[in-house]
Amino acid sequence: MTEQLPEASLHTRLCDLLGCEVPVLLAGMGGVSRWELAAAVANAGGYGILGMVRESPDLITTEVTALRTATDRPFAVNLIPAATEPQLLEAQITRCLELGVTAFSFFWDVMPDVLARVKDAGCLVLHQVGTPDAAQMAEKAGADVIIAQGVEAGGHVHGRSPAFGLAERILSETDLPVVVSGGITTGEGLAAALAIGASGVQCGTAFLATEESFAHPYHKSRIVAATGEDTVLTDVFVLNWPKGAAVRVIGNSVTDGLQGNYIGHDPATLPRETIAHDGDQPRLRFSTDSPLRTTTGDLEAMALFAGQGAGAIQDVPPAAKRLIDMTAQARRILLGAAPNDRKATP
Ligand SMILES: Cc1cc2nc3c(=O)[nH]c(=O)nc-3n(C[C@H](O)[C@H](O)[C@H](O)COP(=O)(O)O)c2cc1C
Repeated sequence: MTEQLPEASLHTRLCDLLGCEVPVLLAGMGGVSRWELAAAVANAGGYGILGMVRESPDLITTEVTALRTATDRPFAVNLIPAATEPQLLEAQITRCLELGVTAFSFFWDVMPDVLARVKDAGCLVLHQVGTPDAAQMAEKAGADVIIAQGVEAGGHVHGRSPAFGLAERILSETDLPVVVSGGITTGEGLAAALAIGASGVQCGTAFLATEESFAHPYHKSRIVAATGEDTVLTDVFVLNWPKGAAVRVIGNSVTDGLQGNYIGHDPATLPRETIAHDGDQPRLRFSTDSPLRTTTGDLEAMALFAGQGAGAIQDVPPAAKRLIDMTAQARRILLGAAPNDRKATP
């Protein structure tokens, strides 16, 4: 039945702006969204974003070069200006521009000077925000795309509103393309975002649990086993971030030890204890580092970032399969298939 119907188009103006086929963005996850994952998403028709927060300019060169070898599709580099030492940020941006990077994705506080710098260089700017006020600031500073991040999101969470409510509010106040981010791991989420007038979705958790992601297999397996209710929002993983910066993680021995007091931790008073290593780099308990392919040590006690959509993740497929399943399901829904037909193979 479904295969006789014409293809529902998922194409939005965001696809034209970014140069992708379907409006699904890979979140620029620090450590996790390296060239292999960004290339897999881009080659499957989505939009790849390299997660380069606080990485050295040399790693940026290595990753951008490898990504360009693996795909000729456009991509962006993600940086978090407000959580990066000004000197390093300057060096990162300079290196990106030298490399001919044409799009940036920024997150956390809006820093108008940083947007102006890359806009003046002719780059596109996608800005993820957690409040309507921040969306207005980002637009005023020159952003081309607003990414509305909801409290369901994995990793650092800037606002406290549910993603769809926030996106609807921002949509009512801007003509820029708006992308919904947070808790979206299925075609239902993608179809819902398009139905409210958003131009696409951004997914972190859904792509973290894929073959190409640089996350440690242990982290991927915890996402497969988790339900959305297994995640908590806490600011205990805060070393090296400003006080009060909250993250959504899968509950573990560290969060179990908080007895429900997830919020209100002061990085200045948390003990510094090495629990793992990445090469010769120590990883501290309570730090924002999540376990990567290269990490050894007490992985269970690290920040196991995941969004509330983790419950729908049941395997670790190639990223292309995750994307194709999501878009096929969204198309079936937009074509009006009955709920029981939605999971059918197209
Ligand atoms: C492991 C992980 C790392 C993340 N790192 C970053 C980052 O470096 N920069 C950024 O802008 N967002 C980062 N995020 C947040 C994402 O941009 C996005 O808001 C989130 O993944 C959306 O929610 P979802 O995980 O439920 O899809 C990260 C998210 C995860 C899961």
